[in-house]
Amino acid sequence: LHGIPLYKSFIEGWPQVKAFQARPDDLLISTYPKSGTTWLSEILDMIYHDGDVEKCRRDAIYNRVPFLELKAPGVPSGVELLEKTPSPRLVKTHLPVQLLPTSFWDKDCKIIYVARNPKDVVISYYYFYQMAKMHPDPGTLCEFLETFMAGKVAYGSWYEHVQGWWKKKQEKKLLYLFYEDMKKDPRQEVQKILQFLGKEVAEETVARILHHTSFQEMKKNPAANYETMPTTLMDHNLSPFLRKGISGDWKNHFTVAQNELFDQHYREHMAGSDLHFQ
Ligand code: PPS
Repeated sequence: LHGIPLYKSFIEGWPQVKAFQARPDDLLISTYPKSGTTWLSEILDMIYHDGDVEKCRRDAIYNRVPFLELKAPGVPSGVELLEKTPSPRLVKTHLPVQLLPTSFWDKDCKIIYVARNPKDVVISYYYFYQMAKMHPDPGTLCEFLETFMAGKVAYGSWYEHVQGWWKKKQEKKLLYLFYEDMKKDPRQEVQKILQFLGKEVAEETVARILHHTSFQEMKKNPAANYETMPTTLMDHNLSPFLRKGISGDWKNHFTVAQNELFDQHYREHMAGSDLHFQ
């Protein structure tokens, strides 16, 4: 799609996505895949429901926060779901900044972007390619690292994605968060989100949000862990969707040589950028 590798069915649904009519009070959750989308989605749904855990169990996360460009056989598309969703809507996308439907800019919607260290992204993506059946066989990890570095994975180059959205931050209402910060100090990041949304909530509500959106709680919550997806689409026996939920798992996977190669490639592709990762 305009040079970005994407699932065939998503490309078929592109005309509807391109023409999507955002509403001024939509909040867009934008990420490169495997960067903390589901985590941020659950946090925002909790904020939108004033920390009411039962309300946030009303449906699976992929229905509570529709995935804009999703189009797959036998399920409603993201656009169809969104059209039926009452305002204020939470909208998930992985689109690179240049492909975002223009109505989000025209309506001046608020956007929260989460970025994650690419070494952990590639590991998470490698397992996701195996469990989520719409992907081609990723091959060995060594092969997949090359595919990822070349930007030949779904949604294309991580480097271009994180930098493209980073640049937009200068001119738009965009909060740019990092997965690693959310891991280190989730309370502080939730406070940043509340401030960005102009919302104040009681301290005990914040505590409830933090508890409910912890990895352990989300992993056992069928409304958050994707286990309600048909096994033909996602096979959690191969790898759970909520897999490890840590920073630095790449250290258990990369060889020293792979790490050196990755670092070199990273330096070349992030040269001159003021975007820095932990
Ligand atoms: S997707 O398919 O792109 O929408 O996936 P996404 O939700 O962006 O990323 C999945 C990874 O996020 C981890 N995750 C969490 N980490 C910490 N805390 C919480 N609450 C949490 N929820 C999801 C999830 O485990 C995936 O990372 P890995 O490294 O594979 O465990």
